[in-house]
Amino acid sequence: MYKIKHKIKHKRLNKNIATLATGLLLFGVSIMPAMATEGNNMTQQIQTKDFGTLDDGRKVTQYLLENKLGTQVSIINLGAVISELHTIDKKGNFADIVLGFDNPQQYLDDSPYFGAVVGRYGNRIANGKFSLDGKNYQLDTNNDKNHLHGGIVGFDKRLWQAKINQTKDDTQSLTLSLLSKDGDQGYPGTLTVSVTYTLTADNLLTIDYQATTDKTTVINLTQHSYFNLAGHNSGDILNHQLQLNAKQFIPTDRTAIPTGELAEVANTAFDFSQIKTIGRDINSDEQQLIFGKGYDHNWVLNPRNKPLSQAAMKVVEPRSGRTLTIYTDQPGVQFYSGNFLDGTIIGKNKAVYHHRNGFCLETQHFPDSPNQAHFPSTRLTPEETYTSSTIFSFGVQ
Ligand code: GLA
Repeated sequence: MYKIKHKIKHKRLNKNIATLATGLLLFGVSIMPAMATEGNNMTQQIQTKDFGTLDDGRKVTQYLLENKLGTQVSIINLGAVISELHTIDKKGNFADIVLGFDNPQQYLDDSPYFGAVVGRYGNRIANGKFSLDGKNYQLDTNNDKNHLHGGIVGFDKRLWQAKINQTKDDTQSLTLSLLSKDGDQGYPGTLTVSVTYTLTADNLLTIDYQATTDKTTVINLTQHSYFNLAGHNSGDILNHQLQLNAKQFIPTDRTAIPTGELAEVANTAFDFSQIKTIGRDINSDEQQLIFGKGYDHNWVLNPRNKPLSQAAMKVVEPRSGRTLTIYTDQPGVQFYSGNFLDGTIIGKNKAVYHHRNGFCLETQHFPDSPNQAHFPSTRLTPEETYTSSTIFSFGVQ
């Protein structure tokens, strides 16, 4: 058992990016080490715009991060959601590669966590129960009998406080913060949380989380973007190719709670150690795929918890040539193949999101860790600062 890493700080970004070279080469992707060059030019300011008004009158603001390659990342202060993400394809055309809404109220009413930062606890806690230091806690149960993604009013449904950071070179950075009170959704401790999104000149989108608490609690933050690298309104994602640097995954019961076993992926549909299409084995009759209605499981990343030194996963969409490579210091990733999308959600520009029209790669600690003593610990004490970093690297091939 080991504790959440407490070392990575935002200031270490340059160093983290330098370490990326190895991982990128591993997957045959090359980037210019632009972050390594110190310059004194202040970047262009992040543009802000009105994103509309919620039914209760609260206003939502959108922040646009962009770089000279033309990559644009829009973030709203509701749910710290990535609402748009425009990247180039191999022919030079841009598309918005994340699912989302035009109307902010839909993020409260209709959203299966599109683009959001989920917390306090990403994924499920069995029966919403856990105990810490001999004290029992009962959380909201919002996924049948289980607790999912922080509860009924999770961080995805909160208005965060936004702050534009001063940066150098062609880098833009935005920090969103919130205060979650003692007892919020049943969790102990007042938690002060922030997430910083940084877009660099060379198409890295870094996500740095930080949190402190005044009472011992549990925490597991993640980013819940639904990607479709062909464009958010381009049909299913089954032709995307995926590689996961993982030898094991975490089987679950019918309600998506881990059985506690770490199972080998070899000779199963869960083996993405060599790149393969998401669709290749998704309809095979393995029990775990039937339970998940497709992929909706956590993979044990290998090597575990080695911060950002090696690409943890890569996705390629062959028609557009767009690639997404992900680095993380987290021990696991929940790969969810959009199994619950069913054509009832109307998204941006009237797009209809059908079955498996997007996928999520949620870097995180394992589901139900507070009840599984042999899983890496998600406990946070008042003496500690929780930090976690994930980098999305956008490319073409
Ligand atoms: C996560 C879960 C899925 C589902 C989606 C949201 O990825 O693992 O089971 O709840 O969020 O629909």
